[in-house]
Amino acid sequence: MSTVIKNGTIVTADLTYAADVLIEGGKIAAIGKGLVGDEVLDATGCYIMPGGIDPHTHLEMPFMGTYSSDDFESGTRAALAGGTTMVVDFALPNPGQSLLDALKVWDNKSGRAHCDYSFHMAVTWWGEQVFEEMAEVVDRGITSFKHFMAYKGSLMVNDDEMFSSFRRVGDLGGVALVHAENGDVVAELSARLLAEGNTGPEGHAYSRPPQVEGEATNRAIMIADMAGVPLYVVHTSCEESHEAIRRARQAGKRVWGEPLIQHLTLDESEYFNPDWDHAARRVMSPPFRNKAHQDSLWNGLAAGSLSCVATDHCAFTSAQKRTGIGDFTKIPNGTGGLEDRLPMLWTHGVNTGRLTPNEFVAVTSTNIAKILNMYPKKGAVLVGSDADLVIWDPEAEKVISAKGQQSAIDYNVFEGQHVKGLPRYTLSRGVVAWRDGKIESPEGHGEFVARPARPAVNRALSAWKELTAPRPVQRAGIPVSGV
Ligand code: URP
Ligand code: ZN
Ligand code: ZN
Ligand code: ZN
Repeated sequence: MSTVIKNGTIVTADLTYAADVLIEGGKIAAIGKGLVGDEVLDATGCYIMPGGIDPHTHLEMPFMGTYSSDDFESGTRAALAGGTTMVVDFALPNPGQSLLDALKVWDNKSGRAHCDYSFHMAVTWWGEQVFEEMAEVVDRGITSFKHFMAYKGSLMVNDDEMFSSFRRVGDLGGVALVHAENGDVVAELSARLLAEGNTGPEGHAYSRPPQVEGEATNRAIMIADMAGVPLYVVHTSCEESHEAIRRARQAGKRVWGEPLIQHLTLDESEYFNPDWDHAARRVMSPPFRNKAHQDSLWNGLAAGSLSCVATDHCAFTSAQKRTGIGDFTKIPNGTGGLEDRLPMLWTHGVNTGRLTPNEFVAVTSTNIAKILNMYPKKGAVLVGSDADLVIWDPEAEKVISAKGQQSAIDYNVFEGQHVKGLPRYTLSRGVVAWRDGKIESPEGHGEFVARPARPAVNRALSAWKELTAPRPVQRAGIPVSGV
């Protein structure tokens, strides 16, 4: 059974051209004019693009005394409905827990996925066991390791632990990820705010100002540089953090920044809404910022100093959020966005001229496929690539609403937003997964994507670090070893 997509315009990270796409066995078999197949999908007026890859989701995540409400089943439905064909979730060991045990838990959770997925591994504690197990995690195709510099007392790791872990990740040929906020300062500010009677959701924003993120980003970049590991900074939300990333990149460091669609399009005024539920539903870390920070993020995407747009999809219901009434530090941190990332980015990015369609593909799919070393299996429209495609109708419109959304929660942080640009079809390894407003790929269709270690960027960084490593000066008559 083959499928041919006809009458569309292929848009990749670097090319725009009219051609048909023939799909066989889940892969792109041919690209050209006049192709024939068993099933025909009409892409008249549409762009044929690599499906979105969301590199940052937390599906069924145990967090702050509860579990995020979208699991791999509803979360991947939301992804496909919005043109995203792959998610990368975080396997999260409890402090003290084996990484391999955590991986088993995530393997079980992901069994019902409707689209492909991969994992990052979180390093939430440090010790001999973690050091050893990291090698097996890499052997299993999980080559990116996340470190939380915030959430003191639960997920946070200290600088010495982070340095040891970063060195290990570098040696294993992986990439280090950080949630960059100064967790010590956040904890102190939070306690003071609560003591002063700032107990509402706005206290969350006050407790995590941009400086807190900027400092941690600079610190993580320095530690990664000392450890010789490429660094990916998740949910970059402000100019302070972006500036640190920009400066590092200009100094030749291998650092990437990831703004979220929420930070690009929603601002801090959300936290001052008089409706407690409205404000609490938008509590996430880092919090939404002001317009100047938003402009910085948009400019970074256009300039190439920021590389990928993600969601950090971590959805909690209103009832879950309400556990924080009277104490903002107990509001589960996280917002949804999987179904809305591509339509919102197209509407506010491409339709406004802030991004070209090719840049849109780069920041939603191709860049992360390269960073995570799964290109061109993913993130490409090339013969031999997985047929993870979105047939994008730039004229289709809707108003975003929680009513009818795939996500399991009872609201949507983008409620009422008018978007123009939506998927007509989404294909997951050649299977039509989203058509006419319905999910068609079956549960369990999603496959785990293993990613090899040591991509070219790691090899280049290792070569440079080896060349510039400290070396003892040879002095006549003075032995250099044996102290
Ligand atoms: O508030 C957020 N971002 N929740 C999810 C966990 C994380 O920090 O990424
Ligand atoms: Zn985070
Ligand atoms: Zn996250
Ligand atoms: Zn299902």
